[in-house]
Amino acid sequence: MSLLTRRRLLRRAALSATAAGAARTGLAGATAAGLAASASALGACDSPPERESDAERNGTLRFPPGFGWGAATSAYQIEGAAKEDGRGESVWDTFSRTPGRTANGDTGDVAADHYHRYAQDLDLMRELGLRSYRFSISWPRIQADGSGRPNQRGLDFYRRLLDGLHEREIAPMATLFHWDLPQALQDDGGWENRDTAERFADYADAVFRALGEQVPVWLTINEPKTVVQNGYLTGHHAPGHQDEAAAYLVAHHLQLAHGLAVQALRASGVPGRIGPALNLHPCYPADDSTEAAAATTLYDGYENRLYLDSIFKGAYPRDVLADLGPDSRMARAVRDGDLKIISSPVDLLAVQYYTPLYVTGSGDTVRRWPTSQADWQQIYPQGMYDILTRVTRDYGRVPITITENGLPCPDAPGPDGTVDDAGRVTFLRDHFTVAHKAITDGVPLESYHVWSLLDNFEWNEGYEQRWGLIYVDYPTQRRIFKRSAHWYRDVIRRNGL
Ligand code: FCB
Repeated sequence: MSLLTRRRLLRRAALSATAAGAARTGLAGATAAGLAASASALGACDSPPERESDAERNGTLRFPPGFGWGAATSAYQIEGAAKEDGRGESVWDTFSRTPGRTANGDTGDVAADHYHRYAQDLDLMRELGLRSYRFSISWPRIQADGSGRPNQRGLDFYRRLLDGLHEREIAPMATLFHWDLPQALQDDGGWENRDTAERFADYADAVFRALGEQVPVWLTINEPKTVVQNGYLTGHHAPGHQDEAAAYLVAHHLQLAHGLAVQALRASGVPGRIGPALNLHPCYPADDSTEAAAATTLYDGYENRLYLDSIFKGAYPRDVLADLGPDSRMARAVRDGDLKIISSPVDLLAVQYYTPLYVTGSGDTVRRWPTSQADWQQIYPQGMYDILTRVTRDYGRVPITITENGLPCPDAPGPDGTVDDAGRVTFLRDHFTVAHKAITDGVPLESYHVWSLLDNFEWNEGYEQRWGLIYVDYPTQRRIFKRSAHWYRDVIRRNGL
């Protein structure tokens, strides 16, 4: 592995170690003109002054008719009911129960108790006016050990959820895998084992056949890159490995699993659309040097092209392969025909945008904009515009949905019981504004899902970071619409700002 790659990995490990309770930095750059300026130098969550954009004042920023305003969640982060109705163990059960892995030793055992409260949550979605709801299906609820006959009680839960969505005229968008790999498969090598990709296709096939009539849009694997980087490089996500060689082998098998699932949907005759869910990071040089430009190109390869070129061009990027070396575990694992499977035509691309990256000549990353409570997140709405337009330019006019974008804050109810997350309103307003501009400039963006519908279990951060539009009081499981939820309901009603 190249020096550059090594440096960036070490840097990431150092960053993630300081993630909990990260300081909110106010950088001089935040005073620059433009949308990014609204990320207050006091910290994105601190209440900015009351501010309405011109568009909002004049009601001029309308989205296309039928635009899919939505919100997103994932199974392990909200469902709880970890041991009910035949659900098996996942890698996240194992990981979160291992001392020292998550903030405060938090687990998803109860989470937002959505498994029991889904009907109430559906009513909240209706109250919010959602047109689209993106959620994930828990593999270990469907196949406790990751293979074999599907568990009827697990399928029934999702059937009830889907019925409830249709009754409320909310379009479902179902992710097949949001990181909760059955532990039994991990015991057999997890994503390092090629067979896991085949198991995934079987699981997907079972889900398509059982639920296909009710699901118009499927997403295959949520953020394969995060499994690679957090699960296998830094180790601060399940399964908690730090193994550079394994990481990119895992990248290949995750993408193979994606392609096999696309093929399984087509073979099943089930009519839904399907695509990948990728977290894309626009990469910029940190300075004007030629070294920074070169390092940024390679960085972009690892962050974006490794997952986009394979699916949309049927080839892994040459610079990344060269950097990994011809004898890497990944290079040796790619078989004839694999890229053909991975590049099976998809119907849409789901983009998850949180942050830009600024790369120095030595392959380090530096911060340019204020961060949020998640210290890996720099608040830079323009980055969303840049990545959306770039994807459309480089990969063609494939329909795009934003399946995640949001801000974590240490929200708490005030004395009057309301939750005033003004910073989240500002954040969303600025991102919606650039999304609208991207549409105007030709990006076929059809929907936008805020992360997240509800406060939930934020992986290794446990319950310390609240990302929801709706506050969850965990001891009582009471739900409270935050100010951002009230604001978002108006946006949806108006179909714009
Ligand atoms: C994304 C994950 C999602 C949530 C947000 C904050 O990377 O897909 O589950 O953790 O980050």
